[in-house]
Amino acid sequence: KRIVILASGSGSNAENIIKYFKESPSVEVSAVLTNKSTAKVLERCDRLNIPGFYFNRAAFTGSQTVVQFLEGLQADLVVLAGFLWKIPSNIIDAFPNKVINIHPALLPKYGGKGMYGAKVHEAVKKNLETETGITIHYVNEHYDEGAIIFQAKTAISPEDNVDVIAQKVHRLEYEHFPKVIEKLLT
Ligand code: GRF
Repeated sequence: KRIVILASGSGSNAENIIKYFKESPSVEVSAVLTNKSTAKVLERCDRLNIPGFYFNRAAFTGSQTVVQFLEGLQADLVVLAGFLWKIPSNIIDAFPNKVINIHPALLPKYGGKGMYGAKVHEAVKKNLETETGITIHYVNEHYDEGAIIFQAKTAISPEDNVDVIAQKVHRLEYEHFPKVIEKLLT
C-alpha cells in the first residue's frame, strides 16, 4: 500500500510516519508533497531517502497536476500532516475516502480556517479547557469538517503554557497517527 504525505511545515509527523513504515512489508510512504519550497519537511525527506516535491498554488488549484501526480504514484492514502491549504474538490473526488488529516484539538471544537499550530493551543488555554487532544478525520471541501476517524485526549492544567500543551498533543500524534493509518490500510 502506498501513502503520500502532504506537509507545509516542520514535518515531524511525516518523519514519524516514514520511520514507522520503514520496515513494513506492505505499507510504504512513496513521497512527500509540500506547498512551501522552504519547508523543513524537505530536509527530513532528504535524510530519510523519501522523494519530496514542491508544488505551488497553481498546481493545487484549477489544475489536475496534483491529481495526476497522486494517481501516477498509485496512492492508496493521502495523509495531511500539517498541510495548511484547503484540499480542492478535484483531489477529494479523485480520492474518495482516501484523504485524511490530523488536527491538534478535539474537533468539532477549535477547528476551521486559520486554526492551526499555536493558535489552537492558545484558544484551548484561553477557554480554560482541562483536556485537549488530536482528531484524525477524512478530509472534505471544508477545513476540519470531514467524518472523524479517531480521537485521543490528554489532560492539561492552567499552568501549562502553549508549548507544554503543544508537546502533550505532539506526543499523542506520534503515538497514534501511524497506527490509525496502518489500520486504514491493512
Ligand atoms: C501537527 O500538530 C498537526 O496536528 C497539525 O500540524 C502540525 C504539524 O506538525 N496538523 P509537524 O509539521 O508534523 O511537526
